[in-house]
Amino acid sequence: MKLNIIKRVAVLLLSNIFLNQPAQGQTGNLYKNASKPIEQRIADLLSKMTLEEKTGQMNQLNFSPNNADLKQKIKQGQAGSILNVVGANDVNTLQRIALEESRLGIPLIIGRDVIHGFKTIFPIPLGQAASFEPEIAESGARIAATEARESGVNWTFAPMLDISRDARWGRIAESLGEDPYLAASLGAAMVKGFQGDALSGSYSIAACLKHFFGYGAAEGGRDYNSTNIPEHLLRNVYLVPFQKSVEAGAATVMTSFNDNDGIPASANDFMLKQVLRKEWGFKGFVVSDWASVEEMVVHGFAADKKDAARLSANAGLDMEMATGLYLQYLPELVKEGKVPVSVIDDAVKNILRIKFSMGLFEHPYAVSAVPSTIYSKEHLQAARHAAVRSAVLLKNEKQVLPLNNKTKIAVIGPMANAQRDQLGTWVFDGEKEHTVTPLKALQTEYNYIQYVYEPGLRYSRDKDTSAFGSAVNAVKQADAAVVFLGEEAILSGEAHSLSDLNLIGRQSQLLAALKRAGKPVVLVIMAGRPLTILRDLPYADAVLYSFHPGTMGGSAIMDLLFGKASPSGKLPVTFVKEVGQIPMYYNHNNTGRPAPAEVTTIDQLPLEAKQSSLGYTSFYLDSGKDPLFPFGYGLSYTSFQYSDLKLSAPAIKKGEKLTIQVTLKNTGRYDGAEVVQLYIQDKVGSIVRPVKELKRFQKVELKTGESRVLKFELTCNDLAFYGKELKKKCEEGYFNIWVGGSSVTGLQASFTLE
Ligand code: NOJ
Repeated sequence: MKLNIIKRVAVLLLSNIFLNQPAQGQTGNLYKNASKPIEQRIADLLSKMTLEEKTGQMNQLNFSPNNADLKQKIKQGQAGSILNVVGANDVNTLQRIALEESRLGIPLIIGRDVIHGFKTIFPIPLGQAASFEPEIAESGARIAATEARESGVNWTFAPMLDISRDARWGRIAESLGEDPYLAASLGAAMVKGFQGDALSGSYSIAACLKHFFGYGAAEGGRDYNSTNIPEHLLRNVYLVPFQKSVEAGAATVMTSFNDNDGIPASANDFMLKQVLRKEWGFKGFVVSDWASVEEMVVHGFAADKKDAARLSANAGLDMEMATGLYLQYLPELVKEGKVPVSVIDDAVKNILRIKFSMGLFEHPYAVSAVPSTIYSKEHLQAARHAAVRSAVLLKNEKQVLPLNNKTKIAVIGPMANAQRDQLGTWVFDGEKEHTVTPLKALQTEYNYIQYVYEPGLRYSRDKDTSAFGSAVNAVKQADAAVVFLGEEAILSGEAHSLSDLNLIGRQSQLLAALKRAGKPVVLVIMAGRPLTILRDLPYADAVLYSFHPGTMGGSAIMDLLFGKASPSGKLPVTFVKEVGQIPMYYNHNNTGRPAPAEVTTIDQLPLEAKQSSLGYTSFYLDSGKDPLFPFGYGLSYTSFQYSDLKLSAPAIKKGEKLTIQVTLKNTGRYDGAEVVQLYIQDKVGSIVRPVKELKRFQKVELKTGESRVLKFELTCNDLAFYGKELKKKCEEGYFNIWVGGSSVTGLQASFTLE
């Protein structure tokens, strides 16, 4: 068996070495010569391809084992990519057919959703965003790439860059939150992590920016729904992370399912040709989302499947995912003159450019690493670190946290030992057997902590309250309750929207019952979205929000609860009080009638009050004007003080830099890390500007008592936006600036741009 593997690896290595050489007698096959410039290789290969082979490259097929038809298609050059084939054996079998049995031997690109880890699962992207650390996002992506490559996957459908301002939308879990600057910084870091220094690296996989475009703004948070984003908002907010990640070198882009203002993204030629290619200079290829081309028929945008293929190809969509529409219809559409052959050539060039850049012609096969890096100590350690840094401390009354090692805890709740659920959405390959749940961490590494375990509920949707009594008794026997509530993984992610964001099932009732036992209650929430926990806060002395924290979540949470680390995450998205407040996000435009600092709410209204007695401003009578927790918010065990905010000048000219200096001091009793956040407000613009915009952030580690002077720089480019004329530029005028620990606190200064 072992010998066989060695033989196999040797054969693969030899075939790779062999393929590295310009093939004997292949002077006519310049495209196989790795020393030639990529554009020449593309031109050479394209000149040799039949129309059917070209449209074959534009076709991506889904894998199913023992699929003779799939193999036949590959042999005939009718597939450019396969998705969902995993494992060196299966991948290499298909790749060998493509290379050795198809006429031109063009390698396949192998796609898979490797979203927040391959086997070693990191916190969901929304959790990673809470770290405010591009390094965390980059290292998670690098590790995912390394593990995926071992299994033959060389292209991931990530990062997901959809700005998400609506927690009803289940895919908010996959997103990097509500802020364009944060999402852009982390998204670009993920691209770097997946693709490494070069696309051709042995452990690089091609990234795919999705979903282009606007998908996160689905009406009512209902997945796949229409969006209606006007161009200013699109360019100033929704497109920002995409452009930054294209600049970071992302190889591919995926179109989204939604229509924006009536045009489905998979047929939006303005966005694909003008914005992506002309304005941003994107050189990679664009893939559709699963069946999103065919679904334009259901949208009522294409008359039939053939029409859908025509519309998408002509709009500049290079590769079609899953349905085979391009393969079926493009050749005849070209012959009928409905799709110019130049459109096909451009698409194929884009696809081949990435295949050549990845070095696929030279190193087409998956080679298993020996020893395997999957679930390696380093990978697990990095996942644990990411989970520590992603958790957000929302409340910590009377400093109930960190717990003392001598505290006997009652471990309660359906998420205390939910191996599968703490991994979160989009886990195709990670295995729950490797999950360290909080309970597992207590049974192993933290076995010196005294605990009793009574879940109370079996899973998050459970409505059976018969075990509440045992759970309350367990708390009575302990010094404190640690209650793990939240959402099963299946409640967030694609096509899993919710209209009620309260803790599901009987979890809130369980928490309230436990509090009556009279002991301190620590609530830990694992969820795929910001839940509405207003009604739960009175029953918890401390609340730690860990999103779905991944494989090592249990160890990470214990590290935080027992003070081995201090929480340092900040909210990447606004937490609302009531679902009816949605959409509510920090960087909204001002109204002409903003609410005053204090508003009168429903219970304070006298009987038969006059219609005018409240004034006429913008807020909810029942839930007020503020969210439950604002963007950027998060506590630490220690405390931080900001002082001495100084600007290098009261006014700068375009072309000059503004330097902002602030002193940060750790004034508490613990070492800790703080996310320093810098916001601006452009007071007057040619279009209405947001009340605040994040422009810089930095996570700073300080020992207790330590202080540091931090410096940030801003230029005209940082202040620029698409104004009335839809041109990106900075506009002269007055700016406010804040530096602090959240979007609602901070020291304030101002400057003028002249
Ligand atoms: C549909 C999802 O929208 C997309 O994010 C994913 O990458 C594809 N399916 C492939 O699985």
